[in-house]
Amino acid sequence: MRVDDFSKLAVRVEPMTVADLTEVLNIEHLSFPSPWSARAYEYELRYNDMAHYFVARADTSALNTNSGERVLGWLKRVLHPAPANGTPQIVGYIGYWLMAGEAHISTIAVRPEMRGRAFGELLLAFTIEDAARRGAHVATLEVRISNTPAQQLYLKYGFEKVGLRKAYYSDNNEDAFIMTTPPLGSAQYQTRFERLKSALIMRLNEVGSKQLQSQPT
Ligand SMILES: CC(C)(COP(=O)(O)OP(=O)(O)OC[C@H]1O[C@@H](n2cnc3c(N)ncnc32)[C@H](O)[C@@H]1OP(=O)(O)O)[C@@H](O)C(=O)NCCC(=O)NCCS
Repeated sequence: MRVDDFSKLAVRVEPMTVADLTEVLNIEHLSFPSPWSARAYEYELRYNDMAHYFVARADTSALNTNSGERVLGWLKRVLHPAPANGTPQIVGYIGYWLMAGEAHISTIAVRPEMRGRAFGELLLAFTIEDAARRGAHVATLEVRISNTPAQQLYLKYGFEKVGLRKAYYSDNNEDAFIMTTPPLGSAQYQTRFERLKSALIMRLNEVGSKQLQSQPT
């Protein structure tokens, strides 16, 4: 399942560590009505052998934003400063549990002002590839029935709605769709995945080079 290499992109996907949790929890609180706690993440990272968590990092100062986003971005940076050591900012994260040949995606989120730039797709594609390499036959997840952006992302990657969990979310009793991929190793899925991955890498490279060209000197 390798057509090109995610490691050559300006946005890097790396294993999440406990040192990432301040930034991760900031995005978590901006993204979910019932955010996970630091303790929950620490448990996942330190003790859950089935868990695999990743962050995507990019130099967000190089990303074009419109003026409204720039003001909002400035305000957010003042309130939640990026690490001072020059490390690129975490733009999103994802996690999954590998259980009995199934990759169960437990979470995915992108920093609100960084959405719509293919970072969520990069995290999902990276995870599907990582899980397949570790022996997952399918990927599965739950998603709020109202969460159209996330569902569209999963549908793009071949997930199908295979069931419903009634009142799955305790904050508002919302139902969850269970969405699952076809067999990851099937020729049909691999062809689809490779096509999507090539387009994704091209898109992320194009965005990166346009941003570099438009940088003030
Ligand atoms: C879901 C989420 C991770 C998507 O991240 P993102 O970086 O904005 O998404 P991308 O830019 O990579 O978009 C990839 C695909 O997702 C779908 N998508 C993303 N945003 C969408 C939107 N607002 N409306 C419809 N589809 C959308 C599209 O299929 C898109 O592909 P396209 O660009 O070819 O149209 C992001 O919206 C998020 O963090 N949401 C809050 C947390 C959350 O709901 N997580 C899911 C829990 S199940």
